[in-house]
Amino acid sequence: MLLQDKKLLITGVLTPQSIAFSAAEIAQELGAEIVLTNFGRAVSLTEKTAKRLPSPPDVLEMDVNDPEQIDAVRQELGRRWGRLDGFLHAIAFAPQDALGGNFLHTPWESVATAFQTSAFSFASLAAGMLPIMEEHGGSIVSLDFDAQVAWPIYDWMGVSKAGLEAVTRYLARDLGPKGIRANTVSAGPLKTMAGKGIPGFEAIADVWSRRAPLGWDITDPTPVGRAIAFLMSDLSSGITGELIHVDGGFHAMGIESS
Ligand SMILES: NC(=O)c1ccc[n+]([C@@H]2O[C@H](COP(=O)([O-])OP(=O)(O)OC[C@H]3O[C@@H](n4cnc5c(N)ncnc54)[C@H](O)[C@@H]3O)[C@@H](O)[C@H]2O)c1
Repeated sequence: MLLQDKKLLITGVLTPQSIAFSAAEIAQELGAEIVLTNFGRAVSLTEKTAKRLPSPPDVLEMDVNDPEQIDAVRQELGRRWGRLDGFLHAIAFAPQDALGGNFLHTPWESVATAFQTSAFSFASLAAGMLPIMEEHGGSIVSLDFDAQVAWPIYDWMGVSKAGLEAVTRYLARDLGPKGIRANTVSAGPLKTMAGKGIPGFEAIADVWSRRAPLGWDITDPTPVGRAIAFLMSDLSSGITGELIHVDGGFHAMGIESS
């Protein structure tokens, strides 16, 4: 099996609609051993959701903005597995005033929160997990919403995603010599808690399904989960610093065909 014996950390599973849930499900089906993390009050919901996976995994607490909690998770995974083969960063957050059309007037504190949680944290997590990855190498993956263009409503979350894309490239630069690959998957819009929290989400989703030549189902994160499995696997051994679109082909079209 593609991910046989891989030991993976999957962040960001909240509900069965979470992109990370699909990634976790596919990883288990392909033979990986996984541990989930989430933060604060979300942990109990993650525990409930974890029971719906083929083999319910353990859930640990990790606020990605808390270096001590990252260290504690590394120690626990080190004890358990002796090594980590990869992790999925499926985490984003922006305060309400950083989204939805207030771009020119968003206070720095809200921008800083969005950037720290949604972009900087990929680097914090990579640094935190390095001691249990550097001996054997591995693969780390983040989740992007294409930040090469400006979107309606997405505002400082879009700027944070541009940061995440750059963080991914810099991690590829610094971790490549240690055999660790860093890539990001740019997903089309999906009806998750995070997706639904974006005002005007429906309008973007509507255009998407019309323009994407393969079509796009906002209720099905499976295509994204499959791409994550590929990036976690040895089949992608030559790929790092890459942004892979899993969006039904939307990004490649100038306008919808009639
Ligand atoms: N839903 C979409 O349309 C879409 C599209 C492209 C990319 N993405 C990205 O996919 C990723 C996963 O989001 P999702 O759509 O599956 O939604 P989701 O709401 O299911 O997952 C977001 C997760 O981030 C976690 N999180 C927030 N702050 C955290 C913190 N400080 N520490 C640890 N965890 C924290 C939440 O608890 C939640 O589990 C995000 O990076 C999101 O931006 C989503």
